[in-house]
Amino acid sequence: MDKNHQERKNEEQIQANKEAWGKISKEHYENFKVQLADKDFKLNPMVEKELGDIRGKKILHLQCNTGADSILLARKGATVTGVDLVPDNVYYAGKLAEDFGMKDLQFIEADVLKLMEIHEEEYDIVLTTDGVIGWLPDLDQWGRVISHFLKEDGFFYLHDGHPFMMIFDEEALDRGELDPRYPYFQMTADYDPMIGGYASDAKEAGNYYWGHQFSTIINGLLKGNLYVTYLKEYDRCVVGMGGSKADEKGLWYYPELEGKLPVVFSLKAEKKR
Ligand SMILES: C[S@@+](CC[C@H](N)C(=O)[O-])C[C@H]1O[C@@H](n2cnc3c(N)ncnc32)[C@H](O)[C@@H]1O
Repeated sequence: MDKNHQERKNEEQIQANKEAWGKISKEHYENFKVQLADKDFKLNPMVEKELGDIRGKKILHLQCNTGADSILLARKGATVTGVDLVPDNVYYAGKLAEDFGMKDLQFIEADVLKLMEIHEEEYDIVLTTDGVIGWLPDLDQWGRVISHFLKEDGFFYLHDGHPFMMIFDEEALDRGELDPRYPYFQMTADYDPMIGGYASDAKEAGNYYWGHQFSTIINGLLKGNLYVTYLKEYDRCVVGMGGSKADEKGLWYYPELEGKLPVVFSLKAEKKR
């Protein structure tokens, strides 16, 4: 496939994702409004611990959805700019911030990969977490975008599904079985007819997901002159899946697979000086 054809296909698939995510914006807003009203609603504990003290920090939050995590980051004293592809996500993120009287937040509608075309500012932290890189077809461009917005002494933070875990059939995992359904080395997107399910009911809306290799992530960061300074893998995560159990800290794991598979990972990266 030539480069132009590939780019057009990526555009079409991103457009499908934009429409699909838009179908659950309102439900996410309503759900997160209830959760944010609860004082015990917190950031993902792994993210919170690894980020450390963010008071006074200027954060660029990529793929912020309807802004729930952006608000939690702002509650910890950061000034946050959230970015999301979907107009309704950005609208509802602003509304959520307003509902909770939060002022240190702004939200921008953009494809992360094109953010440099419409935004110009530097940040102490560029952050993206929980269900993000699989929506982006080009992690080389992603690395360049992150680097562009990062201050010389800032850091990038990522917490997401582990690429190795992404190869397994979800329903088999729910039964504690491993069925390698999505080839690790596949470069094209997988189609899913359903969207959502973690903060809304799953809805019918075709979407595309790129299951990247670990090397693609690291190489993308290197393209942006970003060097990994921290890397950690976990066998459990914050979202409960069918067949998983919660541990004493409220993190979910598959009992049959405990300690056997990497489920999520975190990394920090800095610009090489
Ligand atoms: C699973 S959600 C991430 C939620 C995130 N953990 C949060 O802070 O709530 C994925 C988000 O990525 C957004 N997205 C998908 N493709 C994108 C793109 N190319 N540029 C910007 N945002 C995108 C979707 O609209 C959706 O809100």
